Formats: sequence, C-alpha cells, structure tokens
Amino acid sequence: MSQHSTVAGIILAAGKGTRMKSDLPKGLHTVAGLPMIQHVGRALNGAGIARPIVVVGFGADQVQIALGNSFSYAIQEEQLGTGHAVSIAAPVLEGVQGAVVIVPGDAPLLESESICALLQHHVLNKAQCTVASVRMEHPAGYGRILRKSDGSFSKIVEEKDADAEIRAINEVNLSIYCFDCQTLFRLLPNLKNDNSQREYYLTDVVGLIASEGGRVDIEVFSDAEQFVGVNDRWQLAQAEKAMRNRILRGHAYRGVTLRDPDTTFVGPDVKIGPDTILEPCVTLTGNTSIGSNCRIGPYTILDDTQTGDECLIYMSRLSESKLGDDVRVGPFANIRPRSVLGNGVKVGNFVEVKNSNLEDEVKASHLTYLGDAQIGTRTNIGAGSITCNYDGFFKHRTEIGKDAFIGSNSILVAPVTIGDEAITAAGSVITKDVPDGALALGRARQEVKEEWAYHWRKQKKLQKQGKS
Ligand code: UD1
Ligand code: CA
Repeated sequence: MSQHSTVAGIILAAGKGTRMKSDLPKGLHTVAGLPMIQHVGRALNGAGIARPIVVVGFGADQVQIALGNSFSYAIQEEQLGTGHAVSIAAPVLEGVQGAVVIVPGDAPLLESESICALLQHHVLNKAQCTVASVRMEHPAGYGRILRKSDGSFSKIVEEKDADAEIRAINEVNLSIYCFDCQTLFRLLPNLKNDNSQREYYLTDVVGLIASEGGRVDIEVFSDAEQFVGVNDRWQLAQAEKAMRNRILRGHAYRGVTLRDPDTTFVGPDVKIGPDTILEPCVTLTGNTSIGSNCRIGPYTILDDTQTGDECLIYMSRLSESKLGDDVRVGPFANIRPRSVLGNGVKVGNFVEVKNSNLEDEVKASHLTYLGDAQIGTRTNIGAGSITCNYDGFFKHRTEIGKDAFIGSNSILVAPVTIGDEAITAAGSVITKDVPDGALALGRARQEVKEEWAYHWRKQKKLQKQGKS
C-alpha cells in the first residue's frame, strides 16, 4: 500500500441536499448510527487515505463540529457545482503530486476495497483520470457515461442535459474518481457552466482530459448497491437497510446467531463473540462489545456497554456500563452509565443501577435502586431496597461491604457505610453507619395485641346487623 500512502482524498458534501427536506446537512444524516460522511471517510481511511478534505457549505459549522478533526475542511460558500467544489479544495492540496481520490459525501455504502481497486488501476495504467462506473437497471438521476466507438471514454452527460438516446444508456457515473492532482487543478479553471443547472460540473473536467488527449480509464464495478447515492429519505432508508444487512451478515459469519435480522440493529463498531445469540428486537450501538456464549434479548438495548462471556440479558436497557462473565440482567432492568457489574452478578426485574460498582456475585433480584454505590462481593440486596443518594442538591455515596445482607425494603440514606457481613433488617431506614458483622434495625418495634382482631370483627358484625 506504500504507493497509496501519499494519496489525497476529497469528499464533496457542501450541497444542501434539498430532497432530504431537512434542516440537517445531508452528510450528517446517519446510517447505522454514523453520519454518512463518516462512513465515506472510513472507506477512504481503509484505502490508506488519511484525513480527507471535506468540502462543506450548507451547515458548514455543524458539519465540522459533528465530524471533528479526523477530517480537514474547505468551505464552499456558494454551491456552484461539483467542479467548483473541488476547486475550493485545491489550495489545500497545492503542490501535491500524484493521485487524489474524489468521492461524494452521500455514498455511505462505499467500501475501501473499491477505492483500492480504483487507485490500483489508476496507478498501474498511469491514467490522468480513472472514473468509476456501474451498469444500472434504473439509471435515472445519474450522469451517463458516453464511450467512443472503440469503447474508450468520451464524456459524461448529466441526466438533466441528456436527450432520450443518452438517457437510454445504463452505464452511470458514480461520482467516484481518481485524478492526477496537477492535471485536475490545471483544467478546473477552464470549466464553464453552460448547462441546464448553470453549475460547474466536475464531470466536465473528465471530458476535458479526454479531449486534450489525456488518458481516462473507466473502472466498471458490478455491485450497484454499494454505490447508491442518498438523495432523499427513502434512499436513506434503503441505505440503512443495506448497511444493517451488511453488518449482520459479518457477525453471522463470525459465529453469532441472529434470531430475527429484520428487528436487530447493530452499529458498525459493535463486537460480538461467537456462539452468542441475539434474540428479536435487539439494538446494540456505539462502542458495545459482547462476549461469547451470551444471550441478548429479546427487547434489549445496549449502548457503549461491554460484557464478558456467558451473560444473559433479557428485556433490558444498558448504557455506558461494564459487565463481567456470567452476569444476568433483567427482565426490565435499567443499567445506567458508569455501572460495573462483576462476574456472576444478578440484577433482576425492575432494578435500576447507576454509577455503581457491584462486585462479583452481588445479587439485586427485584425492585431496587442502586445509585452511586459500592457493593462488596456476594452481598445480597433485598427486594425494594433503595439508596437515597440525592438530597435535592448533592449526590452522596453508599458503601456496602462484602457478604452483607440488605433486608427487603431497606432505605439506605447516603452518605452511609455498611460493613462486611452486616445485616440490615427488612424495612429499615438506615441513616447511620453499620459496623462489620452488626445487625441494624431502623424501624418501629412491632406490637402484638392478643385476640384483638377477634374482638374487633365481632363488634363490627354486631354494628352492621343493628343497622340493616
Ligand atoms: C453527481 C454527478 C453525476 C453522478 C452522481 C452520482 C456531477 C455534475 N454529477 O450528480 O454524474 O451520476 O453525482 O451520485 O458531478 N456538492 C458540493 N458542492 C456543489 C454541488 C455538489 O459539494 O456545489 C456535493 C454534494 O453535497 C454531493 C455531491 O457533491 O455530496 C454530489 O452532488 P449532487 O448534487 O448530489 O450531484 P448529483 O446530481 O447526484
Ligand atoms: Ca447525489
């Protein structure tokens, strides 16, 4: 790949994307949770093109904030066409020798392998320009590639400038090119906008190279789906579906069982170990990783969460948390950010955990809130127990030792510490620290009145008879 290491990249993304009918710049619309421009950028990176230049215009600030500094930027104030857009990026590439790859920001399914193939062809054949094309069953909307009688490149005609004969051509321009930098920037100033859209077309530079006798090659690709340009929300939906299938197929081939791919959403950066089963209606996003032999779902969402092996997560939502091996969660558990569940932890139904560390084998099986808590190994949290971590102004911590037993419905008013092997009696309100091995009772003492209920019932019955 050393021949590619100095290759520059330009992503065209200044257009408003009018057909999206959106306030969001088109390239920021997401596919599988990642902005389209980012998908394109990754494809370039994968082909050895580091830090491509994004030509931004509509919503330029928004795009730069969203994408950050893994790209460089050139601002096209007025969208005067794709050729004009490239001329805006020219100063950034001044003095660069060799090849520049140009791709549109609205082709999220584009793969690195295709860019590599295009580049390789371009370099091997010493072309001034290599154009990517594909034959499409329904070429409507695309620029058509016109070839000379010997099959070599003649020119590209936009659909809006095409007559019926040209429209019948089904070989389309994918808007993915490899240019010799010097040739490109020498010819850009010669562009005219004498076309139906009054735009400076990048496609015309390719025609200019051919007409001055330069070498223009066409690399014909076969997988049309990979190159679809997203211009409206329906195409965005199709791209989403295609990307989802691509991601899921990869996991399936790596040994993951997908019970229902149609309702399974897995982000591009998610990792899943072999023999893990994803049940229907599972969404895994962000930097989530799942170990092997786990069972996730149905109806489960994990975002930025890492699990060990053999975990069972059932109808629950987990976010920014870490789980060890053999952890059981759910149904209906809410594991909120900065929670750590150690090996063998069990968190059952209607349990909420936030910013808490549950060491190995801690059990909180039902109806509990654990916030800002540290809980030692093997401690059992009884049903209905709650850490009162918030006084209306500040958050406070609850520390519970190992092998402790928190009786059902214990209210732990933080800040509070409960020692190793300590017990809190069911229904206690714990406001003071409990030492190791102690029992803490924080409830009204029970009173028993012998036979009181018999007398009371008898009296009530008599009252009722007297009335009727
Ligand atoms: C373009 C090609 C067409 C090709 C199609 C493939 C031209 C003239 N036409 O048409 O041959 O078949 O892509 O999808 O190049 N952009 C800018 N600044 C501008 C105009 C556009 O940055 O002034 C960006 C857009 O944001 C977009 C890309 O360039 O990401 C392509 O522009 P778009 O308007 O979508 O071009 P198409 O009409 O699809
Ligand atoms: Ca387009």
